[in-house]
Order: sequence, then C-alpha cells, then structure tokens
Amino acid sequence: MITDVLIIGSGGAGLSAALRAKELGCSVIIATKTLPTNANTCMAQGGFNASKGSDVQAHIEDTLKASRGIGSETMIKTMCEKSSAALDWLLSLGVPFSLDDNGNFANRFMGGGANKRTYYAEDYTGLKILQTLHDECLKNDILFKANHYLLNLIVDEEGKEVNGATFLDTVMGEVVEIRAKSVIIATGGYSGVYHGFTTNGFGSSGDGIAAVIRAGGVASDLEFVQFHPTALKKSSILISEAARGEGGYLVNSLGKRFVDELLSRDEVSRAVVKEINEGREVFLDVRHLGGKKLAHLLPQEIKLCKIHENLDMANDLIPIKSAVHYTMGGIEVDQKLQASGIKGCFAVGECSNAHIHGANRLGGNSLLEIISMGLIAGENATEYKSKSQLKENSQLSKDRAFINDVYNTFTNQINFYEKREFLGKILYHNASVIRNDMGLKGVLVALRQMQKEFTFMGISDKSLEHNTNLIEFIEFGNTLEVAEMLLVGALHRNESRGAHFREDFKETNDTFKAHSIFWKEDGVLCAEFKDIK
Ligand code: FUM
Repeated sequence: MITDVLIIGSGGAGLSAALRAKELGCSVIIATKTLPTNANTCMAQGGFNASKGSDVQAHIEDTLKASRGIGSETMIKTMCEKSSAALDWLLSLGVPFSLDDNGNFANRFMGGGANKRTYYAEDYTGLKILQTLHDECLKNDILFKANHYLLNLIVDEEGKEVNGATFLDTVMGEVVEIRAKSVIIATGGYSGVYHGFTTNGFGSSGDGIAAVIRAGGVASDLEFVQFHPTALKKSSILISEAARGEGGYLVNSLGKRFVDELLSRDEVSRAVVKEINEGREVFLDVRHLGGKKLAHLLPQEIKLCKIHENLDMANDLIPIKSAVHYTMGGIEVDQKLQASGIKGCFAVGECSNAHIHGANRLGGNSLLEIISMGLIAGENATEYKSKSQLKENSQLSKDRAFINDVYNTFTNQINFYEKREFLGKILYHNASVIRNDMGLKGVLVALRQMQKEFTFMGISDKSLEHNTNLIEFIEFGNTLEVAEMLLVGALHRNESRGAHFREDFKETNDTFKAHSIFWKEDGVLCAEFKDIK
C-alpha cells in the first residue's frame, strides 16, 4: 500500500494534518492503533485558547512565561498568531462552541492566563473538536487504517529519509507496511508510563517517540511531565481546570484555601502535593457555584464525579490529588516540524517537542497546538513529498521476525502487567511533582532491570487475531524506552524549572537553560544538554 502522506495517530493533530494535506491534493492514509477518535484529545476538556487584537501579545507572553525560559519565541508567536484563524477554521467545520448570554462565543479563564481567552464547548471541548474533525475526514474520503499498531518507521539508511512505516494489523495479526512519500507522526504523549496515576488512557505509551529513537532520530526534554492538580483521588480521573476557571476553590481538610487556583499547573500541583505531604487532604470545592451553573458549564465533570466516585459536585467536597496529564517532551523537531535526523518525517501534537510549551504547558494551549500545528504539519508534509523512488527496505522482514520471536522465543516467566503497575507506582512517587537524586536513581535501576528481563516477560496468549496481550506487551517495551529518557533527563537536570522540581536543587540554574537531547547509538541511550539558540 502506498500513499503521498501517511499519518500515524488519529487524535486532533493527526486529523487536522490529514485534512490540510488532502485539501492540498495529496492522497492521505491515517493509521491508528485502535479506532479513530480514541485519543487523548478528549482529555483537554476545558477549552481552546484563541487570542485576538492586543491579547495576542499577552497570549505570547503568558505562554513564554509558562515555558520557563526554554520555549521558542518564534514557535510560540506562530501558534498564538494563528490561534484566531484556527478557531475560525473549527467554527467553519461546525464545532459547537458554547455561547454566552448575549449570543457571543463564551470564554473562560484557565490557569496562567492573563485574560479570558479559552473558548469551550461546555467541558467537552476536545471531544467535540475530535468528533467534528473525524466527520470532516470521512466527508473528504480520507482513508483510515484502524487497528494498525505502529511498529517501526521505514527509513532509507543512505539518505536518512523516511519511506513509510510498518504496522501490526491487530485484527489479522499480520505485520504490514504502508509506503509513503512523507510521514506525520501524531501518536500522542507518554503519560501512560505512570500507569495507574494518569488522567490519560492506557495507550499513551510514547509509541511514536520510541519508533523515532529506534529509527535514528532524536527526542528532547522528556523530563518535563505535567501533573494536573485536580484528578479524582481514587481513580485519577481528570476534573477539568475549567472547574477552577469558573470560580472553583481548592481547600484543605482544615477548610482553608491554600493557593491561588489560577496559577499555572506546576505551581498549583506543588501546592497540592505540599498539603498532602503535610498530612492534609485536598478538595475541589465548587458547591458555591450552585447546581444550575454547574449543570450548564461542567456537565461532564458532574457525571465523572458521580460515576467514578459517587460524589455530587453541587453538594460534596471532591477529594483530589495531582496526576500525570500531559508530557511536554517528545520528538525533537525543527521549525517546520520535521524530525531531527529523519528527512520527510514530521511530528505534531503531544508526541512532538516543537518547543512551544517548554517546561510547562498552559491549559487550553494543547488544543490550540494540535490544530494550528496540525495544519502546518499537513502543509509541510505535502510540500516535502519525496521525489526519490521508494527503495527496497528490510524493515518489514525484521519486524516479522521480531513478532515471530515474541510468539516463539520469548518466555513469560515474568508477568509484565505486574511490572507495568510497579513502574507506574515508583515513577509516580519518585519522578513526581517533587523529585530528588536518590529517588530518581532508584527508579532508573529498577527500570534497567526490567529492560534486561524484557524477553522473559513475553505473552501468554498466543492467538493471532485481536491479541491485546501482544499489543500491551509491545506498548510496555516502548514505555521502558521512553521512561529511561525521562529519568536520565530528570536525574541530570540539577535545577528546578517549571514542572521539573528538584528538592535537592530548588533554584532555576541558567546552566540548564537548555534542551535535554536523547538518541541511541548501537542501541545504547545517549544524552546531552543542547543550548537554546
Ligand atoms: O483541565 C482541563 O480541562 C485540561 C485542559 C488541557 O489540558 O488543556
């Protein structure tokens, strides 16, 4: 199978890129590991940042400030300046943004924003955007290859140019290839490495980032992990920042507010963790907003509280904790979103590090990034389309051999599900909101032991078709690769900056005003800090 532009991942970034590439005349295939619209885009519930007039400059400044010195002014400027057009594009497709009492599009505050610039569809913003984009892709006859799990990129070794990718067709249990003249990776982030302690779905295993590293590319800034301050205490289910944006409080078990609820997420999460570490429980309190207003503005949050923890938002305090929500690091890309070291391979959305969020992302900027940068990725991948003949390549046979080994050679003496849970727990406690050298080193030792034991952690279900045991095993392999980079970055960044807070290096240190860069040589992880230009 061959196409002009292959897009891997069917969240908002992938779908926006697909629509733009198609509009520009390309043939487009979207490959996705489960079903289209099964993506963490819907976890961005609170809204979409769009600025107009003099607020554009304020939006740029807020985003730069939140990035704590390692965001790119050029990229941030591009995103903010395109935000209003991106909103208009979504409106033209029919995304049902909410209206205020005067019939204008409504907006709300989100943390770290100087002005009200977050447009929303109740508290279902990401979901509504995703569904609208999916409908539009269907209308435009864009081909979806569902249940296609990314194995590896096909890269021409000589030219270091991408020629497509290999996939496990999880319905049939076959390894297949899709050849393409350019590829856009839009596979989402790696919050799932914190298994059990994330607001994201289990599938956020950093598949695209791991594939780029295996293909000779580069990743960066993986130590920057965003903890959302308000996840439900027992289930880690997200309760949107919109609850605070609409006036909700955070209170402790003494009934006291302890932080300005609309600071940026890194600051609010640290305050939440401090309360908990000092032995007090923490609650979201929206009771004063009243049932009617809550039903109007936060209908999803009401349901989530009821379904998952049997709480009534209008009458109960909501016990919360901070949980992993978003990952700022990712595939290192240039200003055209092209992956460093792999020509014709673009990366967009949470899997990519376009140096927009830096050390901390603002609420509402993730949806903006995936749309504004998704459209740019579609344009650049179209412009790139390789002129060279797609060459013969051994990736398909290598990946068939790997899957064959998993079935026939790997053993399952060790239960990887237990390891996955254990890793999630020790990461949550040590590579957390507050970190230190000893804790990070301990997790790295445990993780490297798991890497050594990987071939003893194989699958017990040997069926070919619909083998979720196999998929979860491969995801776990990616998790081990990505978590290693996260830990190495966190261990060597001997300072505190944004979401990376070290209790043993509490100050920001300009020596580390740099990007951590990761790549592999002969299968061995290499890392260094690269100055910001
Ligand atoms: O809290 C939220 O609604 C999350 C939004 C975001 O991550 O942008």
